[in-house]
Amino acid sequence: KKVVLAYSGGLDTSIILKWLQVTYGCEVVTFTADLGQGEELEPARRKAELLGIQQIYIEDLREEFVRDYVFPMFRANAVYEGIYLLGTSIARPLIAKRQIEIAHETGADAVCHGATGKGNDQVRFELSYYALDPNITVVAPWREWDFKSRTALIDFAEKNQILVTKDKRGDAPFSVDANLLHTSSEGKLLEDPAVEAPDYVYQRTVSPEDAPNTPEIIEVGFEKGDAVSINGERLSPATLLTTLNEYGRKHGIGRLDLVENRYVGMKSRGVYETPGGTILLQAHRGIESITLDRGAAHLKDELMPKYAELIYNGFWFSPEREMLQAAIDKSQEFVTGAVRLKLYKGSAHVVGRESPFSLYNQELVTFEEGAVAYDQHDAAGFIKLNALRLRLTGARRNKGTL
Ligand code: ARG
Ligand code: SIN
Repeated sequence: KKVVLAYSGGLDTSIILKWLQVTYGCEVVTFTADLGQGEELEPARRKAELLGIQQIYIEDLREEFVRDYVFPMFRANAVYEGIYLLGTSIARPLIAKRQIEIAHETGADAVCHGATGKGNDQVRFELSYYALDPNITVVAPWREWDFKSRTALIDFAEKNQILVTKDKRGDAPFSVDANLLHTSSEGKLLEDPAVEAPDYVYQRTVSPEDAPNTPEIIEVGFEKGDAVSINGERLSPATLLTTLNEYGRKHGIGRLDLVENRYVGMKSRGVYETPGGTILLQAHRGIESITLDRGAAHLKDELMPKYAELIYNGFWFSPEREMLQAAIDKSQEFVTGAVRLKLYKGSAHVVGRESPFSLYNQELVTFEEGAVAYDQHDAAGFIKLNALRLRLTGARRNKGTL
């Protein structure tokens, strides 16, 4: 019996670690991933060692996260319920995938996560585990143990020599999840959706009111739908997103306060910051606006809510997500070029776009006498035939004839 635990090094997952050892008497392998949450990982190693862990995995997954998860998702312009950029949702499949791989490498037969029994994350972790290893055993301590209160949990920690710092004795004021794409805060202090979140909830953007009074223009370069450069400098996926995050932080871009529908059926209120992602979404839509054909663009927009919902609900590793991804990726063949954006006090506006594959034809749209490909006389017949059925229904309503 061996279990691979997704271990952050924090108090809660340290308690889970100990609880696994005490309850199941099993060997625990810890896995700690750097997804750009901005925390030191070495303390997690020391804590795991102190708890007697022999196999400790600590990995920097930032490039893989952005290249293989964030960027494919942004090709779709995916947003859940019109507004949420899926920052937590898209990170879960990667963590789950590495846990399963580590289970196979270490001969473990089980995996364990620290998500509660009320949220989306448990679903995302476990659907991913089962998709990748249909026979894996899943341990979800929050659904299993019988600690009735925070105090009972802390008592258990102290009885088992887990260091509990003073500030951790009480409950944190809200729950935070962070990675390179976003930081989410929910619960506790934020539970009443009528009450505005205090400013200290926002951790990675200045408030738009305090952002610089002068706008800043940046240029994002794209190749086949993925951002590849900023202001002409080629950057790796994770470096590029990190750089956009810095611009977003400075200009107060990407703050969001919303009420969303969790997959398990309840509504929840979240406060999110997605600085770089918010800029990237605008930029990507900007480059698509000149490189995508209307039919392809509109179909993409119809598929998007379905695609976003699959990611939100935890179906990254599903046949239907892969089907949609194939269609979306195909659409990005000519999504290459550059977009200039103006960043100013919480907003990122496209102010210019260009592409070697642009479908925009100035000859065609100009108000001056233009190209021969378009004859204004053709428009009369185009409108007349489109109007025919409208005239028929109009005539019926008016009890008249054509
Ligand atoms: N509500 C968001 C989502 O479902 C964020 C979840 C945050 N998770 C967390 N463990 N704090 O994607
Ligand atoms: C949790 O319940 O662990 C966090 C919230 C969520 O997953 O939706």
